[in-house]
Amino acid sequence: MIRMVSVSKEYPMGSEIYPILEDLTFHVPKGMLTAIIGPSGSGKTTLLNLIGGLDTPTHGQYFLNEQDVSHFSREQWAHERNRTIGFVFQSFQLITALSARDNVALPLVYRGIPPKVRRLQADDALEQVGLGHRRLHRPSQLSGGQQQRVAIARALIGDPALILADEPTGNLDQATGQEILELLQTLNRAGKTVVIVTHSAEVAQACRQIIQIQDGHVVTVAQEMERVR
Ligand SMILES: Nc1ncnc2c1ncn2[C@@H]1O[C@H](COP(=O)(O)OP(=O)(O)OP(=O)(O)O)[C@@H](O)[C@H]1O
Ligand SMILES: [Mg+2]
Repeated sequence: MIRMVSVSKEYPMGSEIYPILEDLTFHVPKGMLTAIIGPSGSGKTTLLNLIGGLDTPTHGQYFLNEQDVSHFSREQWAHERNRTIGFVFQSFQLITALSARDNVALPLVYRGIPPKVRRLQADDALEQVGLGHRRLHRPSQLSGGQQQRVAIARALIGDPALILADEPTGNLDQATGQEILELLQTLNRAGKTVVIVTHSAEVAQACRQIIQIQDGHVVTVAQEMERVR
């Protein structure tokens, strides 16, 4: 599903160029549950943003579903993300003035889907994350774990094949984090490819592939071969 070949990312700072990711090569098969781990500042979020097309590689090649997306434009990525990718963030990033349902339906507004259909699809996604009964609540009326569930429901809208999550349990207590992990595992078992950036050893251990990054390099790609579908 995701294939990176000698990918590097540099950021210019004044007259200097800072390498953030250097020469990354790895493969995330379709249907995989993958953790990206590494110390703070090692480049995990930068890598997730490359995978999701929020940023583009400076060097190297990126194949998404066998398609070379290394040089996709902003517009091409916006289109691709709409079809293929759902994002989940550490800080949920919900709109406080909107109900759970309207937050989840928001991506569909930009896709020109009529209101009735939006509502049905949003309610369906909320059911999938066990929050059907809270669809009219606003984020402030929900617990942290529930807010993250809403964010996951929003990521599920349009049925993307790939879910990218940046520290999805980082702002949650241990038990609530475990619930979110189980939800992501359930989605993975249902066929979605899931990539999770995490600091949590527990989350990483629950994944079937672990990509470890240090100082911008991949140091290990561990994989439990017998569990790969
Ligand atoms: N837009 C940018 N311009 C310049 N440097 C950047 C930019 N974005 C990130 N960096 C640098 O890239 C490095 C990696 O950042 P990144 O956010 O990917 O780390 P991370 O592994 O996600 O860290 P954390 O675990 O703290 O979230 C950092 O040194 C950061 O300062
Ligand atoms: Mg980060």
